[in-house]
Amino acid sequence: MTDYAEFIRKYPTYDKTHDLDELRDRDYSRLDRQGQIYLDYTGAGLYAESQLRAHQQVLAENVFGNPHSSNPTSLAATRLIENTRASILRFFNADPAEYVVIFTQNASGALKLVGESYPFQPGDRYLLTFDNHNSVNGIREFAHAKGAEVTYIPVCLPDMRIDTDALEAGLEQAAEGENNLFAYPAQSNFSSVQHPLEWIDRAHARGWDVLLDAAAFAPSNPLDLGKYHADFVPLSFYKIFGYPSGVGALVARRTALKKLHRPWFAGGTITVASVQGDKYYLAEAPAAFEDGTLDYLNIPAVAIGLEHILSIGYGIIQERVHCLTGWALENLQGMKHSNGVPLVRIYGPLDTVKRGGAITVNFYDQEDKPFDIRLVEKAANQYNISLRTGCFCNPGAGEIALGISKPELSACFTRSGDDRLTYDDFRLCIDNKASGAVRVSVGLVSNFNDVQVLLKFARGLMD
Ligand SMILES: Cc1ncc(COP(=O)(O)O)c(C=O)c1O
Repeated sequence: MTDYAEFIRKYPTYDKTHDLDELRDRDYSRLDRQGQIYLDYTGAGLYAESQLRAHQQVLAENVFGNPHSSNPTSLAATRLIENTRASILRFFNADPAEYVVIFTQNASGALKLVGESYPFQPGDRYLLTFDNHNSVNGIREFAHAKGAEVTYIPVCLPDMRIDTDALEAGLEQAAEGENNLFAYPAQSNFSSVQHPLEWIDRAHARGWDVLLDAAAFAPSNPLDLGKYHADFVPLSFYKIFGYPSGVGALVARRTALKKLHRPWFAGGTITVASVQGDKYYLAEAPAAFEDGTLDYLNIPAVAIGLEHILSIGYGIIQERVHCLTGWALENLQGMKHSNGVPLVRIYGPLDTVKRGGAITVNFYDQEDKPFDIRLVEKAANQYNISLRTGCFCNPGAGEIALGISKPELSACFTRSGDDRLTYDDFRLCIDNKASGAVRVSVGLVSNFNDVQVLLKFARGLMD
């Protein structure tokens, strides 16, 4: 039996996703023309060529001016911006009476807006999972600076899901009548674990505002804000449909936004500001949170990208991601050196239940020593594979996966100021343990061949 026949026997629903192969031929043909094995959909989605044409047409057929005005070209730009906000709300089934879309540069920009404006003060709480992107971790610096308490909830090995007892206990610690912010990712960018969206209601009931990081989840999964009423949802659009980069959003509940205090004002965020009067009045959201001139020429491309995803449908994307991830997981798990030492250690769920399409691993030699991830990336480059190495800006998940303890880290992090710890210093300090991992991730137009090339590459690392 060929590998493909075996794959279809195990994952018969893959056959129902052939529309995606036609889409790849039609709209992503550059991938196969160049022989690219793209396996970094968690890093960035890929755009369809038709998205570019549609965007170019909008720009070529219209005249757009700076939207901070009410002349005809300005109004034309404003119309497209407002239409795009409405498209985003519809896409996430968010009621415009409940939610607002604030444009940012990316998900990190959206997170910084929340961090710098959340009214932390002594006695307040910032609760977050170990499994978080650094742009969510970074909010703790605002919390620390304002005297709020920061608490991390650990993830458990081997599948890297959250310790639910610790979570329940953490949620019980909301300070009554104070500001309590709970932050977690809908999908981990490290292990691809999909954390339960049901936590949002549970946290609300105990007095928490909820920040749901949807950056890694939204590319392959529908997020229904009509059902799961998270307060703050950061997004980067290039992760969902590849183009444009440089535009993200904070989708936020109006009630939660009222709590936020911006630390400054800027062009576009005020109704009135005075120099001699030393006073300013912030505009209503979303304008109050959008500093300066929006990326008004690229924002229309967001509406085009959303339309592209809607025309495909999340069902077929999820099915394909499920089949390819399952096949890759089971094949990688089966690879062993001739002396029986497993080649691959997978960090996260070993099956496809409540997980996304990223697989994070380390490769081990016959002596059970991890291959240097930089060498793995170099070797993958020979196959034209685009994968990701490091900790993917998620140090909490990385430390737990790789078994790097707090005392070890404290011993390494003694330098300060300009005496920077280099990657090689760090590796040496943790006694040549794996200091990072290798992530491959499938998405919208991944196909069987992409995964087969990955598996061939992995077999090439065996003795
Ligand atoms: C889960 C998660 N959150 C936030 C971010 C930050 O996104 P950006 O770099 O586009 O700001 C990323 C990016 O990888 C991510 O995966």
